[in-house]
Amino acid sequence: NCMTISCNGNVCRSELMFHAFFNALYQTNNASLTFVLFFILGGKSDENLIIPINDSLSGTLSMDFMCAKTTIIASPELQENTFWLNGKEQSFNNKRLTNCLQEVKRLASKSLPHLNWKFSIKSENNFPTAAGLASSAAGYACLVSALAKLYEIEDNVSFIARMGSGSACRSMYGGWVLWCKGSSPDGRDSIAKQIAPASHWPEMRVLILVVNDERKKYSSTDAMKRSVETSELLKYRANQIVPKMTKACIEAIQKKDFEIFAEITMKESNSIHAICQDTYPPCVYLNDTSHTVANAVHAYNEFKSSNKVAYTYDAGPNAVLYLLDSSVDEFMSVINYLFPPQDTAEYYKGLPLSSNQLSQDLK
Ligand code: ADP
Ligand code: CO
Repeated sequence: NCMTISCNGNVCRSELMFHAFFNALYQTNNASLTFVLFFILGGKSDENLIIPINDSLSGTLSMDFMCAKTTIIASPELQENTFWLNGKEQSFNNKRLTNCLQEVKRLASKSLPHLNWKFSIKSENNFPTAAGLASSAAGYACLVSALAKLYEIEDNVSFIARMGSGSACRSMYGGWVLWCKGSSPDGRDSIAKQIAPASHWPEMRVLILVVNDERKKYSSTDAMKRSVETSELLKYRANQIVPKMTKACIEAIQKKDFEIFAEITMKESNSIHAICQDTYPPCVYLNDTSHTVANAVHAYNEFKSSNKVAYTYDAGPNAVLYLLDSSVDEFMSVINYLFPPQDTAEYYKGLPLSSNQLSQDLK
């Protein structure tokens, strides 16, 4: 059960309260969340549509302990609309938020009694926000679902979530999800669809290693814009690499071929960070610890003579690792060895180990 929306449609006095719980989304492949590279179609309104220059593929986490949770209260007694994120009031003067709201209201029945009531939105992420772990995707998927419930909209609203944060259209679905870039200038066919439910590959696990939970240095939107403007490699990647990688990754997921899935996932992550490096001035998201984790994954896979773990990094240093249930315990012992808890680190002195040392020790 990948995405749970529990809707408390209680009408208590004049208040309507809606809850939606959405899981944070992590990419397996292709440009993913923050790295979906956007078409800048020229003109402000087109930029608002958030249409990517290539397809992208992702996996949605099915664990409630890493998720965004949004509550909306609408009431005729409220004087103004407010939006709180992680306990801090945010300005409502946010184009993405107002675009989503406007679209949802456009689809709502004009006879709804609470259509013009003011509301208060409160959203919380129980994982780091703006640290490259796709909070914008989880957050906007959750927000748009909650708004759709508030305004009783039955239609598919994933295209509205896309206007909040591109990747949010994928976060509307559980399991393995493809976002097709589409070809319509108004973005109507730039939509996500599930290619397999989470139950298709129940042994799949995701480990998230939070290297740094600070907010990223550059917003994903700004970074993507700069990549589109300055990276020559980006065009090659979008036209020559992404289409064949996407197709091969979908096949690997369908066949549950972890070996191929892992290789594509890691190559894809490396490719997108190469684009970041090719952006001018470059956007550097990975740090030494990220590289240590990636090297450890390669050392471990070499030791096992096949791919048992795959890493992928979004717009931050935090590692997202895909592995099967059967590898979790052993690989966790490698991670604990590399990054021992503080008191054990005292004992080992000089850690973290180099990955060459790890290869030797694994042997
Ligand atoms: P990330 O890598 O976490 O997705 P981004 O820079 O892409 O980082 O997006 C972070 C921004 O997304 C936040 O500053 C905020 O505007 C928005 N956001 C994050 N979480 C939520 C949420 N739960 N509800 C609404 N908006 C959110
Ligand atoms: Co984001």
